[in-house]
Amino acid sequence: MQILWLMVTLVPAILADTPANCTFNDVAGKWVFYEGSRIHNGSIDCTTMVSVVRKLRVNLRYPNVAIDEFGNRGQWTMIYNEGFEVTVNQRTYFAFSYFTKESSNITSYCDRTFPGWSHDVTLRHWACFQAQKQSPVPPKVHCNPFHEMTKGNELVSLEKLEQLVNNINRAQTSWRAEVHQPFIGKTRYEMLRICGGKRSWLAHRVSPARASVALQSAAAELPPAFDWRNVSGINFVSPVRNQGGCGSCYAFSSMGMLESRLRVQTNNTLQVQLSPQDVVSCSQLSQGCDGGFPFLVAGKYAMEFGAVEEKCNPYVGGGGACTGRTCLKHYTASYGYVGGYYGACNEELMRLELVLRGPISVSFEVYPDFENYKSGIYHHTGLGGFNPFEIVNHAVLLVGYGVNETTGEKFWIVKNSWGEGWGENGFFRIRRGTDEAGIESIAVHVTPIP
Ligand SMILES: *[C@@H]1O[C@H](CO)[C@@H](O)[C@H](O)[C@H]1NC(C)=O
Ligand SMILES: *[C@@H]1O[C@H](CO)[C@@H](O)[C@H](O)[C@H]1NC(C)=O
Ligand SMILES: *[C@@H]1O[C@H](CO)[C@@H](O)[C@H](O)[C@H]1NC(C)=O
Ligand SMILES: *[C@@H]1O[C@H](CO)[C@@H](O)[C@H](O)[C@H]1NC(C)=O
Ligand SMILES: *[C@@H]1O[C@H](CO)[C@@H](O)[C@H](O)[C@H]1NC(C)=O
Ligand SMILES: *[C@@H]1O[C@H](CO)[C@@H](O)[C@H](O)[C@H]1NC(C)=O
Repeated sequence: MQILWLMVTLVPAILADTPANCTFNDVAGKWVFYEGSRIHNGSIDCTTMVSVVRKLRVNLRYPNVAIDEFGNRGQWTMIYNEGFEVTVNQRTYFAFSYFTKESSNITSYCDRTFPGWSHDVTLRHWACFQAQKQSPVPPKVHCNPFHEMTKGNELVSLEKLEQLVNNINRAQTSWRAEVHQPFIGKTRYEMLRICGGKRSWLAHRVSPARASVALQSAAAELPPAFDWRNVSGINFVSPVRNQGGCGSCYAFSSMGMLESRLRVQTNNTLQVQLSPQDVVSCSQLSQGCDGGFPFLVAGKYAMEFGAVEEKCNPYVGGGGACTGRTCLKHYTASYGYVGGYYGACNEELMRLELVLRGPISVSFEVYPDFENYKSGIYHHTGLGGFNPFEIVNHAVLLVGYGVNETTGEKFWIVKNSWGEGWGENGFFRIRRGTDEAGIESIAVHVTPIP
């Protein structure tokens, strides 16, 4: 026990880097949650664990069932590979899995967590807690892919881009590339942030779940094409924005989902623009300009702390002090992975969620060929070099789907955050039904409160 408490003081230094690599199999099993006093509110600081006043035994079972020592049944899910969230007996517990960093090595200890946060489902009583699995899981080492990456290294040259663009356009006809002028002269480090940021890197990605026959027939009832930008002539999608050189795509994807769903839930009468800067500067559940994940932002941050409007904290595209938390806030009532837990997603569930409830946050792997996409239905061509360790997850907003009448190729319609000058007026289409670049594996939905 004492060892466990000693380890926790390193938290802030470490969380700015790549996350742990913990999987469902590492985490499923019997845990003990060590919890501090519950007298706190949401301002509680859980950087270090102070004193334990309560122990709770919880069994995390397949596929998402959590059972506490009193026999109460709840749910749990992995949060990507970096932690887990459990809701049982009217309380929610969330913590990042523990890891250490030693030069280029990250060691994940998936049988314990950093200090995390717990609160009752009405958000009144908060506490810090830390969890330890009853059976040990061997530590896992992976290389930090961004260890050697510094701010000043090689620039994106026009010549190289033109060559890549020509190769892409020669190799296939499904989509077209064009040099995107604003990317010329960027460093690899800046491109990393534009494409997701190092904290959005996933050491291990889940595959889509198989669709049952019942699910397939439910999805077959949906229209063959659908687009929230034009539902009987009405646009429910807020305008395309530009994240600039900050790894804040997850904040734009998250705020974009809240904005669109508020429009959907009010027949387009509540049209607010929300503040990604607030998320970048104020959220402890993401890593500012180094990346983050929509589940924790559109979902958890917006439920627990609320999203503020753009005018309250306008976007500057960098870090900076957290201000404006006293403005009017927009909250999320519920959130989750499409399918109910991490690993349960697939195309059919995504289409149902999209059509019935509004745009959804998705993430996919940005390969170098994607950056200069101009039009058509994207699929990864394999061109532009291949270094799997530098493939990060770019969060975007799914707004529709369709199929090309000539080729029969199915596609998703997706809103990016690279400005209106990129792609198809700021949007892109990507192959659908084949988990292209992982886009069908980790979709997130939320229900905002209008
Ligand atoms: C939350 O708790 C802190 C100290 O524990 C207190 O200063 C603050 O006023 C509380 N905030 C609210 C909104 O009650
Ligand atoms: C990194 O991990 C490798 C393989 O596990 C090991 O051989 C090496 O010594 C480690 N390096 C450091 C600096 O810990
Ligand atoms: C992460 O863990 C999974 C499962 O243990 C393993 O298959 C994968 O290779 C790991 N990723 C890295 C980058 O080490
Ligand atoms: C919306 O779709 C309808 C028919 O699907 C089309 O006639 C109309 O031009 C579209 N409107 C816009 C603004 O694209
Ligand atoms: C939603 O708004 C549209 C256009 O403003 C209107 O035609 C339609 O009747 C409204 N729907 C409902 C359910 O009020
Ligand atoms: C469908 O695909 C064909 C062949 O690639 C292309 O010429 C056409 O523009 C596509 N249609 C649409 C609506 O994108």
